[in-house]
Formats: sequence, C-alpha cells, structure tokens
Amino acid sequence: MALPKVFVTRQILDPALELISQSALVEVWPGELPPSPEILREKSAQVDGLLTNVMDRIDGPLLDAAPGLKVISQLSVGLDNVDLPEATRRGVPIGYTPGILAKSTADLAFALLMAAARRIGEGERWVRQGNWQLAHHPMHWLGVDIHESTLGIIGMGQIGQEVAKRARGFDMRVLYYSRTRKPELESRLAMEYAELPELLGASDFVSLHIPLTEETRHYIGEPELRLMKPTAVLVNAARGPVVDPQALYTALKEGWIYAAGLDVTEPEPIPANDPLLSLDNVVVTPHVGSAALPTRLNTMLLAARNLLAGLRGERLEACANPEVYQRLGI
Ligand code: DGY
Repeated sequence: MALPKVFVTRQILDPALELISQSALVEVWPGELPPSPEILREKSAQVDGLLTNVMDRIDGPLLDAAPGLKVISQLSVGLDNVDLPEATRRGVPIGYTPGILAKSTADLAFALLMAAARRIGEGERWVRQGNWQLAHHPMHWLGVDIHESTLGIIGMGQIGQEVAKRARGFDMRVLYYSRTRKPELESRLAMEYAELPELLGASDFVSLHIPLTEETRHYIGEPELRLMKPTAVLVNAARGPVVDPQALYTALKEGWIYAAGLDVTEPEPIPANDPLLSLDNVVVTPHVGSAALPTRLNTMLLAARNLLAGLRGERLEACANPEVYQRLGI
C-alpha cells in the first residue's frame, strides 16, 4: 500500500522526523519563514496530513482546498491560528500538544516575573554598555521583592497550576481567577480563588495563563491595569493580544504599574521601534516559553504521534476537537 503523504511546515528535530518518515512520505518546508498562505494551500491539497505551527493560518479556505486531509497536527498548545469549528465541520481532527510544555512555560513565566521585579534586563543592558563605574550605592537599582508577596494567576490550566507550584518556593500567597472555580486545586496548591477585580487589586504579581479567543482579546486593558497596584508586575507568557499594548505602554510609562515581563507581544514579532521597547521597566523575550530542548523534542514527538494516529484513522493522543470522532465513526 502506498505510504500517506505529509507536509511539515517547519523544520523539526530528527527523532520526530524519523518517526514520521517510518510511516509516511514527508516533505519539510525548508525556510526559516513560514510558507505563504498560497503555498500552504497548494501543499495541503497534495497531502493526507499536515504538521503545522502557530504561524500557519488554518481556516475554511485552506480546508476547502485540501479535501484529502485526514489530520492536522499542530505543534503547540495554543490554537488561535486554527479555526476549530471549520475543521470539525469537515471531519478533520486537530492534534495539539497540551501538558508537555506546561512546566517549561511556567519556568519562563517565573523567570520573567523575577527579571522584571529585580530589573535584571535593565541592569544587564546597563553593565554591557559600560555604565558600571561605581561599585555599589545603597540607593541604586532598587526593585521589588518576590518572596512573601502575593501572586495573582489568571487562568488555572496546566501552566497556571505549574506557576502556582513555583510560587510556593518563594512563600508567596497565591490568588487565582478562572472562568470555573477549581476547589479541588485550592487546597492542593494552597491557593485562594478571587474574582478578577479583587485579584488585580491585591496582587503584587499578575501572571496571565489564558488562551487567546475573541473573549480574551485585550482582556487586560486600561480598566484592569488601573486596578493594579503601582508596585505590581504584569507577566504575559500566554498570547500577546490578551493585553492591550497601548494601555500597557501608558500604564508602564505613567506608573500605574511597576513593570512588565512579556514573552508574547502584539504584534509578534514586536518591531524594534515599538514604544514598549523604549521603556526600561519592560523585559521582553521572543515567545520562547516552551523553547527548552527536551520539552521541544517531546512536544514534537507528541505532534508526530498525533499525525500518525490521524493518518491511520485512529483517535489522536491529544485532540483539540474530539467531537469530530463521532462524525468519523471512531
Ligand atoms: C504553544 O504551544 O502554544 C506555545 O506558545 C508555542 O507556540
């Protein structure tokens, strides 16, 4: 029997590619930049499966152009680039990679929290620029404390839970807000539930761990930032558009809040002349929350297994639209 064909939209690590190659004919897009929408549509029309990335737009027109697609396996937990209802309507299961990257993303969120609180990015730039002329001054480089402060986590999925665990090592009080209250986690992770305004007003650090949807676009805007303490730090390792960037700029410039640590921005990539980058009280990393080698490899292997299961017509290990199974009769 002829092997199924797959198109992989970005280079991936060898073990994942080898796994796919054992059961499929693989074409990997060689470019650093993603394939254009036209090329992605053209390639999709020729294959049985796709392994995609957050920068690939998967929507109705693409799916219409590729009626032979049996599965799309996305290499991420975030699916804001995928029109799930359109895929479900056409009977295409969408694989994704929850869980595996939660710990690495929580590590990075915590790193940003600490960097923003203790002015690590700003200090590092200053040293490299040759400004460290005076060994020490008791009034210089004062930041805010992390230990024994209050952390407010918005979104209590796997990443939010991992952030809560890390906070315990710093003796932090942890508040959380999520659409559904999770009483079983409250005692396990020593957290208290708070409504959003209460959380924003009481927290020294606010860390965002919600997906980007139409409801969460600019979820943190001027009214929310104005509720935060002037000494508070905002951390976003979720998706850039969850925060209104103009409101954040004003909040940081005018001192409504103390600092921000961002792994994601709007737009992404953030242009070098973006007003946010003119501020010293912002630490920005280039969307690297899950970019630790072992985690990335495991994520790629899960995406490969999802892809292969879909090609075999089986249920995926992690499927974002399991309602599709009914339609597929599996
Ligand atoms: C994810 O998995 O959603 C990460 O942000 C990487 O894209």
